[in-house]
Amino acid sequence: MLSDVLSLKFNPLVPEVKDAEISEKHLSDLKGYFADEHAYEQLLSEDPILYRVSTWEIAHGDGDLICGFGILQPGKVGDEYFFTKGHYHEWREAAEIYVGLSGEGYMLLEHETNKESKLFPLSANRIVYVPGYTAHRTINVGTIPLTYMGIYSVRAGHDYGALVENNFRKILVARDGKPTLIDRREYANARIPKGVS
Ligand SMILES: [Fe+2]
Repeated sequence: MLSDVLSLKFNPLVPEVKDAEISEKHLSDLKGYFADEHAYEQLLSEDPILYRVSTWEIAHGDGDLICGFGILQPGKVGDEYFFTKGHYHEWREAAEIYVGLSGEGYMLLEHETNKESKLFPLSANRIVYVPGYTAHRTINVGTIPLTYMGIYSVRAGHDYGALVENNFRKILVARDGKPTLIDRREYANARIPKGVS
């Protein structure tokens, strides 16, 4: 039916769906995700909010779509910028389109099979197409919240478990004040104090 619920007004600076359930993630919800465990433990006493997500779901047929809105706070754990957990889709073939609304960030993509990684800017007037079989994570490198929406099939589902087993191979860290993509292993090796084997 072509009713008024097919249209939604939202604020690009604080995109949330009224009356929808809001999923809020704090730093403590992302244990084991950040590369610098010492910095993570130190920041845990404050346990800041990292991000909030709400979804606009108005129809649930096989061919329908969901629009998810995200608000990711700025900040760093050690040198690593705040990010979302990231996920694959349970239905691996399912692609997704992300639309940047405000702030300054990136999407980190990693293909499940060949582990190829790529970083794409995400900000106002930018969209990113996430193909199937691709893990995707949103990263805020700015000083204000990064806001965006993702549009995906109702059949897509979320698989977070695969990334708990095998985190993204690359991490985005500040180097001379600039976001720099490096290997997770390279970062870990650089932090081993001299004289310790
Ligand atoms: Fe997704």
